[in-house]
Amino acid sequence: MSAADARTAMDRMYRRQRHIYDSTRKFYLLGRDELIDALAPPPGGTALEIACGTGRNLLRAARRYPDARFFGLDVSEEMLATARANVAAAGLAGRIPLARADATAFDAAALFGVAAFDRVFVSYALSMIPRWRQVCAEATAHLSPGGALHVVDFGDQGELPGLLRDALRGWLARFDVTPRLDLEAALSALAATQRLRLNFRPLYRRYAFLAALQAN
Ligand SMILES: C[S@@+](CC[C@H](N)C(=O)[O-])C[C@H]1O[C@@H](n2cnc3c(N)ncnc32)[C@H](O)[C@@H]1O
Repeated sequence: MSAADARTAMDRMYRRQRHIYDSTRKFYLLGRDELIDALAPPPGGTALEIACGTGRNLLRAARRYPDARFFGLDVSEEMLATARANVAAAGLAGRIPLARADATAFDAAALFGVAAFDRVFVSYALSMIPRWRQVCAEATAHLSPGGALHVVDFGDQGELPGLLRDALRGWLARFDVTPRLDLEAALSALAATQRLRLNFRPLYRRYAFLAALQAN
């Protein structure tokens, strides 16, 4: 999917959804707070959320790590409008710059004046982006030396009862969400080429996968 197609598709998907996004997604985008717990940017460090949506994670992380600087990008101007409003309402507009960009190819220096980050994180977006492997590569390309990439997304639901798993997968497919069943293999290959260490953890009976790629 081209960047222009992604902009159109995501704006269409979230034009109305953004108004009920946070109140509904809290029930099924599990593991986001575990990711924020694991993030632990260094004091004075920088952290970028790729595909930040409404800014929910950025706000929680910024409150949790008040010494760090946070940045967010998303391809949907609709989602960014909600994120900007949420960040401004929290009085954190000065601390969390937001920009519109495609996750598969972006120039952080041009967007934010910061070329690389101590932490990059991607939450429940790889399952929506057809070129998700490219997103992972782009994310690691934006890591500072010693930095870490954190990912949370739908898992393979392998330990859920079969009927529930099938129903869940069918429901996700209706929203163009595809759990990346080979996420661990893809991140493992990336870790090998980038000389990073992969920590990969299934959560909630494999409902979700939580991963961190960090320096050895
Ligand atoms: C399910 S939401 C997740 C939002 C947020 N990360 C969270 O955990 O609540 C997926 C987000 O990915 C964004 N997105 C989809 N394709 C994208 C792309 N190619 N580049 C950047 N963002 C994209 C959507 O606009 C949407 O905000």
